[in-house]
Amino acid sequence: MEEKNYIFTKKQLNFERYQAISKFASIASHDLKNAVGGLSNIAYYLSKSLKVENETQKKMLELLSKEVNNLNKRITEILDMTRVKQVTKNNCDLKNIILLAIAETQVPTITIEQNLITAQVHADPEKMKQVFTNIITNAKEAMKNMGIIRIDMQIISDTIITTISDSGVGMKPEILEQCFDPMFSTKLANAIGMGLSVAQQIVEMHNGTIKITSEPVKGTTVIVSLPLRKD
Ligand SMILES: Nc1ncnc2c1ncn2[C@@H]1O[C@H](COP(=O)(O)OP(=O)(O)O)[C@@H](O)[C@H]1O
Ligand SMILES: [Mg+2]
Repeated sequence: MEEKNYIFTKKQLNFERYQAISKFASIASHDLKNAVGGLSNIAYYLSKSLKVENETQKKMLELLSKEVNNLNKRITEILDMTRVKQVTKNNCDLKNIILLAIAETQVPTITIEQNLITAQVHADPEKMKQVFTNIITNAKEAMKNMGIIRIDMQIISDTIITTISDSGVGMKPEILEQCFDPMFSTKLANAIGMGLSVAQQIVEMHNGTIKITSEPVKGTTVIVSLPLRKD
């Protein structure tokens, strides 16, 4: 049989990859979540009903609950990441969404300078918050949790443009080219490399665009453009 060749753009390829990864993650983490839920109940039952006889047993039980909780959190993180398709759009103010994202990601060693303006959008507030949480988290990580992040909003005709700038490590051109690729990460440890990919999918589901400019050492600017609500 003749083998078919397909030509995809990088964007189409990333979309296909994203869909495959999120489908797998969604099925796998769903089952895992149920199993961990069961374990969590067992751990709770044991901690309440067992007559613990020594310190080691007590510590082991505490450790069991702690690990089960960690696992549960991690699985929820993965599930959230894949639930991009279910978007429930409402009329909301983008400024409030960004303020919530700032509140969720803030640490005392990072200053977030903001010039936010009211901007009515038709968006899923939870998903949109995730876009900005992912971008701010990357900025914080690029600055090793120290420094200033600037967030500006401006309206140009019927578009609300939000720019998030950091003075972190920046990206070399070859990293910049790949940063939206699903599961691309230059970070060690347990980075999943889905932050920008998810942000891009969400923004595009809202008919918007996300662009990045970056220079090594100088820093990175992420520009999110979204249509203003017409009414
Ligand atoms: N603000 C930033 N400054 C420097 N590099 C960044 C920034 N945002 C993203 N990157 C690069 O893009 C990669 C992908 O980011 P992301 O999709 O959020 O995955 P992760 O944060 O899990 O690595 C990062 O590993 C990093 O190399
Ligand atoms: Mg990230």
